[in-house]
Amino acid sequence: MTHKADLLIHSASQLLTLASPDGPQRGAALGNLGLIEDGAVTLRDGQVLMTGPTASVRAQVESAQEIDASGQVVMPGFVDPHTHVVFAGQRADEFEQRVAGATYMDIMAAGGGIMSTVRATRQATVDDLVAQTLPRLDAMLVHGTTTVEAKTGYGLNVADERKMLETIRRLDAAHPVDVVPTFLGAHAIPTEYHGRADAYTALVVEEMLPGFAPSDKETRPLFCDVFCEQGAFSLAQSRRILEQARELGFGLKIHADEFKALGGTALAVELGAVSADHLVCTPPEEIEALGRSQTIAVALPGTPFGLSQQEYTPARAIIKAGGALALATDLNPGTCYCESMPFMIALACRYMRLTPAQGIAAATINSAHAVGLGQIVGSLEPGKQADVLVLGVPTFQHLGYRFGSNLVNKVIKRGQVVVR
Ligand code: NIG
Ligand code: FE
Repeated sequence: MTHKADLLIHSASQLLTLASPDGPQRGAALGNLGLIEDGAVTLRDGQVLMTGPTASVRAQVESAQEIDASGQVVMPGFVDPHTHVVFAGQRADEFEQRVAGATYMDIMAAGGGIMSTVRATRQATVDDLVAQTLPRLDAMLVHGTTTVEAKTGYGLNVADERKMLETIRRLDAAHPVDVVPTFLGAHAIPTEYHGRADAYTALVVEEMLPGFAPSDKETRPLFCDVFCEQGAFSLAQSRRILEQARELGFGLKIHADEFKALGGTALAVELGAVSADHLVCTPPEEIEALGRSQTIAVALPGTPFGLSQQEYTPARAIIKAGGALALATDLNPGTCYCESMPFMIALACRYMRLTPAQGIAAATINSAHAVGLGQIVGSLEPGKQADVLVLGVPTFQHLGYRFGSNLVNKVIKRGQVVVR
């Protein structure tokens, strides 16, 4: 009896540690769950103290509190590394138009889509935005997400982008889920800049980026993202923004190859971006380059599903090229209004042909690296943050296999039970 713990979770039919001391799980290494049968994990001061078979952990640790996880899977909380969770209003009417045949980019070109949410978000105060976003963060937590990235991008002017960043920081402080901020001033060309995309790009580069650049006081990594797409930002504009962001100390992300391949993935690799996201129509040579790089490929299977598209991120090609694949919801009011990472795993197994184990690793340790927090969350290793899920299923394959109902029984955030 050498150690004292605050909480012991024991007798899990399967404990998934996802232990990955060498960084994200790349290529053929994806899906290494670190599975321990009849497993236990102990937590102290909000951190993981020890993992192992129940008998050996019990022999070494005395705990104030215990949870019996018999017949259940215990694993790290999900990390959702790409969301637009902060927004005002909703766009159910556009969903109806799409069901009737309109495309996402048609609706955007007609002044709807992202701009419709921009209009609602500009009208909202920080308090309004916090109030509208909290229920979505609650839903994420209940479905097992313990860390989430959140983008701006519905302000599209200096004051309203600042308001969104402030909202994200308020939410991070107010809610158990950790919220990592991303500045996405380059999400769309706002209506008032119609036909003047270069002028809007200049506003982003010359005013917004220097005004929002990371300071020494930053508690989370701060990213800059660009929607590199026909009808949004060209490759040259994306380069201008990301080069300036890199100069100012932002981590880099890019929305690349969602509908048209403009070279965004190659740009991400060249600039050393932390992640390149969407990658639905990425050309083979850019997949090869990505596979040789440190840039994480973030697949968002809820988006093609939400748009009733047939094409999904070519995950197997990315894995074959040696790439590090992560999963995210892309939660947003347009293409994918879904808070559930387990549903993304279910989609990835069916449409991207991941195994459940690959889906789980992509949604935990690899997605933690996709937000620069791979050393802090995403796996159950001594010293990491104690963000733990107890799932009401006997084996990990039930993630992927089952969908549409919530399999999460308990959520523990920094050592505290926050969902029972
Ligand atoms: O990732 N592609 C651009 N942005 C989001 C959609 C945002 C919206 O429609 O409001 C996406 O799919
Ligand atoms: Fe997105």
